[in-house]
Amino acid sequence: MLTGSKTERLMAIMTAGAGIALLAFVALTAATPLSPEPVSTVVRGQMSDLPKPQYTAEGRMLRPTPSYRQWTFVGTPLTPNELNLPAAPFPEFHNVYVHPDDFRHYSETGEWPNGTYFVKELVSIGAKRASSGNGYFQGEFIGLEVSVKDADRFPDVPGNWAYFSFGHEYPLADSAGPQRVSDCNVCHAANADDDWVFTQFYPVLRAAIAPAGQ
Ligand code: HEC
Repeated sequence: MLTGSKTERLMAIMTAGAGIALLAFVALTAATPLSPEPVSTVVRGQMSDLPKPQYTAEGRMLRPTPSYRQWTFVGTPLTPNELNLPAAPFPEFHNVYVHPDDFRHYSETGEWPNGTYFVKELVSIGAKRASSGNGYFQGEFIGLEVSVKDADRFPDVPGNWAYFSFGHEYPLADSAGPQRVSDCNVCHAANADDDWVFTQFYPVLRAAIAPAGQ
């Protein structure tokens, strides 16, 4: 057991030590020059080496490799089954990614280039309670949908946007043919804000083309 006076002396030493450490930190921080530009994840002129869609000789799209999880993350709409009984058409979380080359083009021009490649990965609701509070927390991967804008491969499809579904439960299909226009394209054409893409639900995309600083 420390006596009262020893405790006080120890406290004084510790306080002085913390003060010196703080001063050193402030001096170091002040000496570090601030970066003049915000750090961008998109480097002008640099193309990614992430693969674009692959098709069989019959025109079926091969299931994308999970490298799409390295693409630009666009957002996570959520349609819980319990608000869409008995089941949501696209169940639960929708993690949407766009190929980074297409995101770069969109950021620079405000337009989706030919070849634009989106993935919507469906994820179940797992826990509904976490240390941060009650809510919906992601569970397991359960499905995969793709959209591609390609005027060369799909010249007759409205907007040249073709849609593919690899299933809503695992195991996913290894390949998928284009969906009928009435099954996917028409809803996107009628309801999506910008070139068949639901930009109204993706702040990442709106910010990408907003005037600087917004
Ligand atoms: C009834 C309307 C509707 C239909 C039909 C529909 N979608 Fe969508 N889709 C949406 C909405 C709304 C979003 C954005 C919010 C979300 O993910 O729920 C979306 C987003 C997407 C995205 C992410 C990129 C984007 O365009 O925003 C993909 C990929 C996608 N859908 C694929 C498909 C496929 C494949 C089909 C057909 C099997 C399909 N959709 C049918 C309404 C629809």
